[in-house]
Amino acid sequence: MKIEPAKAIRGHIAVPGDKSISHRAVLVGAIADGEMRVEGFGRSADTESTITAVRALGVTVHDDEVDVLRVEGAGLRGLGEASQPIDCGNSGTTLRLLTGILAGQEGRFELTGDASLRRRPVDRIAEPLAQMGAHVETDDGNPPVAVGGGALHGIRYELPVASAQVKSCVLLAGLYADGRTTVVEPVTTRDHTERLLAAAGATVTRRQGRISVGPPERLELPDVSVPGDFSAAAPFIVAATLLPGSELTIHDVGLNPTRTGLLDVLERMGARITAFHRRRSGGEPIGDLEVQSAELTATKVTADEIPRLVDELPLFALAAACARGESRVEGARELRMKETDRIETVSTSLRALGIRITARDDGFRVRGVPSRPMGGGMSSHGDHRIAMLGAVAGLVSRQGVELEDPRAVAVSFPGFFELLDSVTQR
Ligand code: S3P
Repeated sequence: MKIEPAKAIRGHIAVPGDKSISHRAVLVGAIADGEMRVEGFGRSADTESTITAVRALGVTVHDDEVDVLRVEGAGLRGLGEASQPIDCGNSGTTLRLLTGILAGQEGRFELTGDASLRRRPVDRIAEPLAQMGAHVETDDGNPPVAVGGGALHGIRYELPVASAQVKSCVLLAGLYADGRTTVVEPVTTRDHTERLLAAAGATVTRRQGRISVGPPERLELPDVSVPGDFSAAAPFIVAATLLPGSELTIHDVGLNPTRTGLLDVLERMGARITAFHRRRSGGEPIGDLEVQSAELTATKVTADEIPRLVDELPLFALAAACARGESRVEGARELRMKETDRIETVSTSLRALGIRITARDDGFRVRGVPSRPMGGGMSSHGDHRIAMLGAVAGLVSRQGVELEDPRAVAVSFPGFFELLDSVTQR
């Protein structure tokens, strides 16, 4: 696909429902009592993996509408053994969160995924689950994962990596443990699991980086209204910031502070982004964003803010390429554990477009120039976030970008190119 250079981004959009919350609504709905509705469900290949997985475990999910689901909860211990390994596709969230739930069910379960997912680490969940008394086997630290439900006991677990998926896995297993389960986070990560579990009636307490949950008798999840996905809004935010004369409004987007690190980073680089009509919806802060183009200056992103923009770091690299001065990302080794090794895929892709970026063990450095990058050819490497990076890079480049494997966007955002086209002025 050739992405031609653009003049500006102008208009009003809404993005699909948040992927992290969509997964969690289905998973928590599946172990709650009674039927619940999910509105604004962010349908994508990843969230379909979660629907398919809970169906394989005996849960009925009605999905006659594209963004509205009804989940008939099976109750806390109501999931049944699947006849085949559960295929989580490309979705790390599905695999890691579901394993936590299955550790508390009767029976033995196997979870696997596509080639990318099978290369991603699961020892990070196997370890705390084993401490809780579950029987977990992995293929040398990678999927497939086999988990045998057992009698679990509560633990206090200090996360060795700042990962919301690991935190969520342990908290979900904690629903089935004797006593309380506490997770200690080195740096705050997205807290959608905590919010949903509390909404479903679990006793969740949170204090200074310590989150604990006790075993509830039952969960009852009220209907969930999913806000727009900030990570899906991010490519639009960066494109509108970089293209002079742009003015874009993004409506009803999730503004949970554990997710909006990109806003803080762009703002200190000089971006002009205003959040207004702030309100709460379904237990999450949401609002509208107005983005105007701006000239940026370089900045440094350090370990303490990484989790708040972990999925937006590829786009940050592009913004940094167009900012005056040298920008740095440090303490972001976790980027190597994503759908691709994103330190490698970001730096090789952007370098191919004429951008001066060097990979470091735990991040990258970008020498920015306040002008359009040359453009050229790059591949998504099958990674949805890299495909969206390529699209925005094409718009802001001089010669456009020939993007190989653009369809990877469907993992999180199937209508991405159409929506981008609808606000692009050429
Ligand atoms: C996610 C957490 C993050 C993020 C991923 C979604 C989640 O991963 O990169 O896209 O929904 O919990 P880690 O928690 O492993 O950093």
